Amino acid sequence: MTQIMVRGAKALSGSIAVQGAKNSALPILAATLLNRGETVLRRCPRLRDVDASVRILRYLGCEARWEGDALTVNTAGLCRSEISDALMREMRSSAIFLGAILARCGQAELSYPGGCELGPRPIDLHLAGLRELGTDIREDGGRLVCAAPRLAGRELILSLPSVGATENLMLAACGAEGVTSICNAAREPEIEDLQNYLCACGARVCGAGTSTVTVEGGAPLHGCEYTVMPDRIAAATYLCAAAAAGGEICLTGAREQHLATVTAALREAGCDLRAEKARIVLRRTEPLRAVRPIRTAPYPGFPTDAQAVLMAALARSRGATVFEENIFTNRFRHVDELTRMGADIRVSGRTAVVTGAERLHGAAVRAADLRGGAALCVAALAAEGETAVSGVEHIDRGYEDLAAELRALGADIFRAERPEAE
Ligand code: EPZ
Repeated sequence: MTQIMVRGAKALSGSIAVQGAKNSALPILAATLLNRGETVLRRCPRLRDVDASVRILRYLGCEARWEGDALTVNTAGLCRSEISDALMREMRSSAIFLGAILARCGQAELSYPGGCELGPRPIDLHLAGLRELGTDIREDGGRLVCAAPRLAGRELILSLPSVGATENLMLAACGAEGVTSICNAAREPEIEDLQNYLCACGARVCGAGTSTVTVEGGAPLHGCEYTVMPDRIAAATYLCAAAAAGGEICLTGAREQHLATVTAALREAGCDLRAEKARIVLRRTEPLRAVRPIRTAPYPGFPTDAQAVLMAALARSRGATVFEENIFTNRFRHVDELTRMGADIRVSGRTAVVTGAERLHGAAVRAADLRGGAALCVAALAAEGETAVSGVEHIDRGYEDLAAELRALGADIFRAERPEAE
């Protein structure tokens, strides 16, 4: 069993480059199916979720090979339009392939993506939009059997600004005749990155980053070379790590405008943050202070993916901070583990009240999900003594090597292989 071992209460110092964004690379990898050429995706992060997408692309008949941090995908050999149940179960966001396969093949079959650690992950908005574009969708024993011999563009209105639904419908709309407008679209920066990739392939897409994304479908698309945007949640994670441990770090490649609500909270907590072109420098010397309530919301609100790591940093602070998790129903699973380290956190429904502790102590803790696992490492950096974090497979879904990056910033942290517990 792999564990991340941390000896805390050591200030950080140093500089690292931020990895490519997981939540941009995944939809772009699905979008490669829209052209029959070759995509060279630079700064593609090496993650378990990216590996799962590569397995799906290869299963569909595409070629995919790594050259350094560039992943080259050639979809000319596509020969399948269905994804096996086993591959769908590996990653719940595999639903993002549905729109692209329909646009390319006119049909698709895949299983309902399972729920995940964060609670149910419905795709009703994805399916409703695809039906409105002309897809016949039949559910057959947990499998979705879809036929779309002719996708036709039209106005779509999302009942909530779902990131995945926006992305799936953008991809399907590229294969539709006429114009599709996606209203109440998600505005996350990753949507803009997907639009930029699609336009680099010759698609006519605009409006990403606003609440209405417009796609003029039917353009023949070609391959391209594209560089994935930096991962704003990974950047938020390292900033919270430095806030927790103290010291001074520099993140290169990070763009503050993509995580402005996180940097605002860190400044309010007493961190000195300086953002230059594509660098963010954070320095923390005084004890952290509690901040005004943190309410997660769709972009540009506070990102749900940064809720756990900010909570971990504020577990040792002066005062009490209220967190409201408004996006997912089960995203406080890191609380019990933080409590084992001495944190004082009270959860009631979607609200968690963090009363800052004077000190935290190391403990054996287990990650239950990706960002909650990162939060345990953040808290461990501020804790006295040694912390052993298990469930590292969750963390590896979204961070190339969290321990190595934090070690490069001066943390006493490493991965250890332990014999399986009896
Ligand atoms: C994306 O998930 C991200 N994943 C998540 O990051 C992120 O937390 C989330 O967006 C919100 O920003 C990827 O991009 C791969 P949603 P997604 O559709 O697309 C409900 C991480 O840690 N909903 O915006 O699944 C849904 O249940 C991951 O990197 C429906 O009800 O998020 C949730 O409550 C975790 N019906 C809310 O909307 C639908 O058809 C937001 O979901 C779709 C969503």
